Amino acid sequence: MDKLNIVGGGQLNGVIPISGAKNAALPLMCLALLTDDKLILDGWPDLADTQSMRELLASLNVESTMQDDALHMQINGQIGIEASYDIVRKMRASILVLGPLLARMGAARVSLPGGCAIGTRPVDLHIMVMEKLGATITLEDGYVLAEAKQGLIGNRITFPMVSVGATENALMAAVLAKGQTILEHAAKEPEITDLAECLIAMGAHITGHGTDTIIIDGVDRLGGTDHRVVPDRIEAGTFAIAAALTGGEVTLQHARPEHLSALTTLLIQSGASVTAGDDHMIVAGHGRPKPVDVTTAPYPDFPTDLQAQFMALMVMADGVSHVDETIFENRFMHVPELMRMGANISVSGGSATIQGVDGLIGAPVMATDLRASVSLVLGGLVASGTTTVQRIYHLDRGYYRLEEKLNACGANITRVRE
Ligand code: UD1
Repeated sequence: MDKLNIVGGGQLNGVIPISGAKNAALPLMCLALLTDDKLILDGWPDLADTQSMRELLASLNVESTMQDDALHMQINGQIGIEASYDIVRKMRASILVLGPLLARMGAARVSLPGGCAIGTRPVDLHIMVMEKLGATITLEDGYVLAEAKQGLIGNRITFPMVSVGATENALMAAVLAKGQTILEHAAKEPEITDLAECLIAMGAHITGHGTDTIIIDGVDRLGGTDHRVVPDRIEAGTFAIAAALTGGEVTLQHARPEHLSALTTLLIQSGASVTAGDDHMIVAGHGRPKPVDVTTAPYPDFPTDLQAQFMALMVMADGVSHVDETIFENRFMHVPELMRMGANISVSGGSATIQGVDGLIGAPVMATDLRASVSLVLGGLVASGTTTVQRIYHLDRGYYRLEEKLNACGANITRVRE
């Protein structure tokens, strides 16, 4: 398993290009199941997770080729209906094929997912959506068996809690259902808006995306399109925090500042400066960060996917701060590892109290999930000596050329292949 050796202590200065968003690309790829025509995704991020999705779609007879930074996808033959455990266990987002398969084929057999070990992460809301749209669901041998022989039928669906994935699955199923579907208490994340915009370009009738009520009028068929994947706000946010933490100045090319307003507010409170442009952001750190409290919540509030990285910033703050995680239980797996580098953190349930320290010391640490892993890299950037981050396959799931992008700004990171 590869590991990263990080020699800390320097500032980050330079320009980092932000890639297409992993969390937008994964549902967008599933749209290839909804049309016989070609779907092209420009700015497609070539990551372990998007490759797993490509593999899953290939097993369902979606052919795909890479041309420059675009993924070209098209169905070739009969669409398969089974997403097998072997592929699904690698990535929880595989559940996103459930809606498109039911909508297009009237049947699906999808293994219950694996993915990051951040809590139990059930799929009950995905199942509830499909039942509301008229499907019959049974669970058997670790698989979700779904059937809607007469096709799906539009309905009013009120989510009991905000779920990004279940909203995406609902959208992808309802676009080909008979009649109107109204999604209430839907997720508003930019990745949902991106998905809806791509579906509209394919011929779907959707309004209200980006708000918590989405209205979908089903159509008989969808065509292909050529769509650019929205830039990754979590990747941009991670590098913004890295700039603030190391006291350098980094231009985040292609970043969409309007998608990062919750982070920007906190970075400014912590003493960093943030300049927003049309398609870029400049973030600069100025000395030791001030302590700032943060609570994760659905968009447009502070994303759980930046919680671990923000904690790495607060570890170095001049005072005490609190981090409350409200989306996932068990999402503090970075805490013991940051403490091995000298951080002073105590956790009680979903709350962490961080007593800032004035330096970290490099140590061997272990990555446990995607965002936890990158918070250890951030810690390593400011630690004295060398930090070795092991099990970085988690990082490769979600960050495109992480060490290359950081090294271009002055970091000293080496990948050791084992
Ligand atoms: C997506 C993102 C992930 C991010 C998360 C929250 C992708 C591929 N992943 O994950 O990076 O951290 O949104 O912003 O886009 N829940 C249920 N039942 C369900 C589904 C979800 O109880 O059927 C719960 C989850 O356990 C969690 C909360 O709802 O507590 C939010 O999860 P959800 O928004 O669905 O996250 P994902 O779509 O899995």
